[in-house]
Amino acid sequence: MTYILAIDQGTTSSRAILFDQDLKPQAQAQQEFGQIFPKSGWVEHDPEEIWQSTLDVCTEVGLDQVAAIGITNQRETTVIWDRHTGHAIFNAIVWQDRRTGEYCDSLRDEWQEKIADKTGLLLDSYFSATKVNWILDHVEGARTRADAGDLLFGTIDSFLIWRMTGGASHVTDATNAARTMLYNIHDGCWDNALLELFGIPESMMPQVLDSAADFGTTTIFDRPIPITGVAGDQQAATVGQACFRPGMMKSTYGTGCFALMNTGDTPVKSNNRLLTTIAYQLNGKPTYALEGSIFIAGAVVQWLRDGIQIIENAAETTDMALAANPEEQVYFIPAFTGLGAPYWRADVRGALFGLTRNTGRAEIAKAALESVAFQTRDLWDAMQKDGATSASVRVDGGMANSDWTMQNLADILGVDVDRPTVTETTAMGAAYLAGLFIGHYPEPDEFAKSWALDRRFSPEMPASDAAARVAGWNDAIARLTN
Ligand code: G3P
Repeated sequence: MTYILAIDQGTTSSRAILFDQDLKPQAQAQQEFGQIFPKSGWVEHDPEEIWQSTLDVCTEVGLDQVAAIGITNQRETTVIWDRHTGHAIFNAIVWQDRRTGEYCDSLRDEWQEKIADKTGLLLDSYFSATKVNWILDHVEGARTRADAGDLLFGTIDSFLIWRMTGGASHVTDATNAARTMLYNIHDGCWDNALLELFGIPESMMPQVLDSAADFGTTTIFDRPIPITGVAGDQQAATVGQACFRPGMMKSTYGTGCFALMNTGDTPVKSNNRLLTTIAYQLNGKPTYALEGSIFIAGAVVQWLRDGIQIIENAAETTDMALAANPEEQVYFIPAFTGLGAPYWRADVRGALFGLTRNTGRAEIAKAALESVAFQTRDLWDAMQKDGATSASVRVDGGMANSDWTMQNLADILGVDVDRPTVTETTAMGAAYLAGLFIGHYPEPDEFAKSWALDRRFSPEMPASDAAARVAGWNDAIARLTN
């Protein structure tokens, strides 16, 4: 028996999963690592913790029968390291980090449109470009070292591959490149004008490959193993959900929530503040997607547990939502690190609306779960205005296992919510890409046939009730953002 190893290096944990010939998960290991919050709106990770936790989970699942490795990763998170020593010169600046918000504002008038045209993205601190610029500006001597060709930039995939191959491969894939705000998604290359704008020498940049490609061979394990699949986690989930046809849409509920709709060969430009991105790239051909990005989904439950500590584990939230007083309508906007699509407000912070003397833990927990549906509805509306016609959405990620949350999502969206039997779609997508390259797994059309429905959640709430709730949410958003 041979396996494909998927490494899923996420925002709060590193995971390794072994997939068998039928793409069924057979063994897995997971390790959480530290979140560093130096200031309001700043989020960092220690690159050594990312590296060590990744190694640990790989060792734990075992590598003896692994034929190839696929890597999927938290996107945009930025690492800069010394090409001679392999040491990172600063903590990884995480995708959620808003420290460059004002810098983005200062560039907006001149650059917003140009950046959107080239990269498909909005000018925002979410993406890697301004994080690289910040590190080069703030770490003593960094700019000189970068200009001398001594420093390398990478998203987490690049960093891990560079380390796993003993510094032989400095590479990334097109989906990760598309999240840097430095990559021209039409021409398929790093954009010189943007590299210049952000003061980034091209020598720092990784080579961009297809999502199924030869990314290098490991030198750090007992035997060499090829790395043959790479995709950003949301794109890997799109592949794992077999959203290969234009119009198909998936929504993943991890730390944040990211909805991607396949738009085929066409990079559709959003008129409603969504992103244009690369869903996957195979045989040199990019397939594009429209993306709506929400920064806080599952993280709101983590905050209930670790922040205000009103729950001990995530599973409790369902009982609390059921026990909450239905007469109380609390709106919880979890803008802990600002708001993503479609608002793009790096400056706002979270808020609770509608508190009364009767509001208790249950009502707050329910409002936290409901915020996931309301935020998805914002994305859904934007996608509809941009021409989406899908009558259903495929869901995955940890929160997709909560029946209450998924039923509420169907009610608030007013469409069917489809949960597949395998909700490990992110890791599965990475494994599929790696296995596809070595001929272990079939072509996409064949693979798509294996997608199986676990449960369909259809809207049950009267449409007028849903509309009233959505109106209340919109009102709360307006109050926070005006
Ligand atoms: O863009 C950020 C995204 O890749 C993070 O995903 O799974 O940590 O919510 P996740």
